[in-house]
Amino acid sequence: MATRVATTIVRSLTRQTSPRLLSTATGTSPGLVGAEPAVATWWIMSAPVFGARNASTMTLAEKEQKEQKEEAVGGGGGATEAAAGGQKGKEVASYWGVPPSRLTKEDGSEWKWNCFRPWETYEADLSIDLKKHHVPKTFLDKFAYWTVKSLRLPTDIFFQRRYGCRAMMLETVAAVPGMVGGMLLHCKSLRRFEPSGGWIKALLEEAENERMHLMTFMEVAKPKWYERALVFAVQGIFFNAYFVAYLASPKLAHRITGYLEEEAIHSYTEFLKELDAGNIENVKAPAIAIDYWRLPANSTLRDVVMVVRADEAHHRDVNHFASDIHYQGLELKDSPAPIGYH
Ligand SMILES: [Fe+2]
Ligand SMILES: [Fe+2]
Repeated sequence: MATRVATTIVRSLTRQTSPRLLSTATGTSPGLVGAEPAVATWWIMSAPVFGARNASTMTLAEKEQKEQKEEAVGGGGGATEAAAGGQKGKEVASYWGVPPSRLTKEDGSEWKWNCFRPWETYEADLSIDLKKHHVPKTFLDKFAYWTVKSLRLPTDIFFQRRYGCRAMMLETVAAVPGMVGGMLLHCKSLRRFEPSGGWIKALLEEAENERMHLMTFMEVAKPKWYERALVFAVQGIFFNAYFVAYLASPKLAHRITGYLEEEAIHSYTEFLKELDAGNIENVKAPAIAIDYWRLPANSTLRDVVMVVRADEAHHRDVNHFASDIHYQGLELKDSPAPIGYH
């Protein structure tokens, strides 16, 4: 379970006369103090990334070159995400009173990720049981189980043992159910003038967590054009299919996601076997992963796969639990949602 992060938030306001200093929290977070930009930069320059088996198009060297150019022009530090939303060296003038914010880590270095903030980081619970499995008994469960199993076959054929690329591509799918479920519960809450029991937030958290898995793997591999096309097509089909399934039977939809997560655990276990066998090079962990999971600065790809796999196990539990609630004739709002369950 996450411990909320210690950080000093300094908001420098472009046109504000009294800069606000927001509060400090407590606790230690080694990841926050460990990932120095210089280290990340060194890694980006020198990392051999994945072994040939895993290689998609490599991106780190390209990113490094781009960042060096940007730094030369803009004079600012930071990584890829830091540049999102504006040009380096410039701040968007705002007379709307919306200040650009600058965050710092405990060691005073810049917080360089716009896509997540220090208080959203956490330490993964690696003690979770990875072997838990919901035995399908009812027709609906068996339908969900075999639907997922049948989806695995083409995935195995397409990716074979390129687990890095496979992980990246599968995360593009895994981030959909939480968003669809959360969106539909949101609309339902509005329609019925009733609370959601926290499930909207819990499911959107899951979607965000899955998207962070994708952002992490994007740091080490880049999809080729036909893989991007595949994601485009699969997302179009899967989003709509899951949307309809969730409308028709949330019980079935959550069970399908539960089994998808079980498959994800299996995939990452195979990934770890390849790493341990030396078939995939155990390179340094991406800086984004070190900050997001508060990993030690010397963490490796193996450490990242471990925490991602633990996340998948938590998603498995949440979705099977959600399906079970429906099986008991209740609605999700009748049972408090596992918000912050990582
Ligand atoms: Fe994931
Ligand atoms: Fe997951």
